[in-house]
Amino acid sequence: MICAILLSVGLGASACAAPVIPFEQGVPRGDPASGRRLIAALACTSCHAIPGLPRPHGNVGPSLAGIGSRAFVAGMLPNRPAVLVRFVRDAPSLVPATGMPRMPLDDRQARDVAAFLATLR
Ligand code: HEC
Repeated sequence: MICAILLSVGLGASACAAPVIPFEQGVPRGDPASGRRLIAALACTSCHAIPGLPRPHGNVGPSLAGIGSRAFVAGMLPNRPAVLVRFVRDAPSLVPATGMPRMPLDDRQARDVAAFLATLR
């Protein structure tokens, strides 16, 4: 099923087997500074500890420290730009039972948020 989802976000079958080299080029067309502002505005820190963002550092979801160098998102999805961009915007479409809610981001904003997260290594 995960491979079917990856096909739907345009990664192709190779993404299912290939080792992950996350974010060597950052997130295409993403603006980390804008992403940081969006993360603050959307209060992602009410659920997550996020380096570089002020408190609260909520403990509902995992700390996002080092997310830019992790192999997997949500413990199961390859941590690639297209996946992270979609996950921060609409996690339940990738992991139906996830505790991570849909967030009110358009695609460009989701790219910016993912671009900021990619800097957390
Ligand atoms: C209501 C609480 C809540 C809010 C608000 C929230 N998240 Fe999450 N988030 C979670 C939970 C719970 C998980 C764990 C989900 C899972 O593993 O399936 C998660 C997982 C994640 C992950 C994957 C972490 C990992 O270790 O793989 C990322 C990235 C993430 N969230 C980013 C964000 C961003 C960015 C925002 C704001 C735009 C945000 N979250 C807002 C609860 C939240």
